[in-house]
Amino acid sequence: MLIAQGQGPVATAQLRKIFKGKMVAAGGFEPDTAEATVEKGDADLVAFGRHFLANPDLPKRIKLGLPLNDYDRKTFYTFDFHGYTDYPFYDQQRDGLLADPFCPQLHDSPFYFDSSRHAGAAQASANANSRCESKNKALVLEAFDTLFNKRDYAAAERFWSSDYIQHSAHIAPGREGLFNLIKSIPPTLKYEPGAIVAEGNFVNVHGRFSGIGLPVNWIAADILRIKDGILFEHWDVIQDEASRESSKSGLPMFGDKFGG
Ligand SMILES: Cc1cc2nc3c(=O)[nH]c(=O)nc-3n(C[C@H](O)[C@H](O)[C@H](O)COP(=O)(O)O)c2cc1C
Repeated sequence: MLIAQGQGPVATAQLRKIFKGKMVAAGGFEPDTAEATVEKGDADLVAFGRHFLANPDLPKRIKLGLPLNDYDRKTFYTFDFHGYTDYPFYDQQRDGLLADPFCPQLHDSPFYFDSSRHAGAAQASANANSRCESKNKALVLEAFDTLFNKRDYAAAERFWSSDYIQHSAHIAPGREGLFNLIKSIPPTLKYEPGAIVAEGNFVNVHGRFSGIGLPVNWIAADILRIKDGILFEHWDVIQDEASRESSKSGLPMFGDKFGG
């Protein structure tokens, strides 16, 4: 069945009606439409073509919600490596971010707000700020995944400043305080990020810590201050996750499902 540009995943829905075996769908999928198709049961797996070509680390980018490289149609079906093996991995781009001259230090102090500078800011500066905020969000997501899920302490040292300032009442000071806490938590620990917002060098991420060895999960709003492209200061607000029975609103505290 042919697909047109922008058309929904109609072929797999049609085929599913007659074919009940395992099905891999391909053609025109985006990460969100792929997920919806598998959730709906119209396919068991989804393959990516163009996005995979442009993103050698596509699974990681999708998992962490990182931005995708755009593909360049002009380099399709050509005979040298351009457009085949020279698209950057996210890590290569992130390393560029560490030296990014555009990440303004305007918001370095949580108590500092210079409205005159905001009012007079040129469009270029606004664009640079928005680019910086996207990168800061991606940095926090990758840092949290590295430390809490992969528990790769050596890699995590690249994300956390050796001068890390800790404000959480639950965590001992400095980078070591955080790393030692994670080392003391059972291997079942899992971190799931939810809503994430950034303003300048501040990032606020809502997330669930499960498998922490306590009777209930933690739902946390973590606030990070980024400095020189790495995590420099931290505050948090933590709540025990409510069950369906104990939630007065009747709604989950995190995402659209109650935690286990
Ligand atoms: C540069 C390029 C090379 C491709 N080569 C092949 C190929 O050798 N065999 C094939 O079956 N499909 C090939 N395809 C088609 C992809 O498999 C097809 O684009 C994909 O299944 C559609 O999914 P997409 O919308 O995620 O790109 C190629 C596509 C591109 C862009």
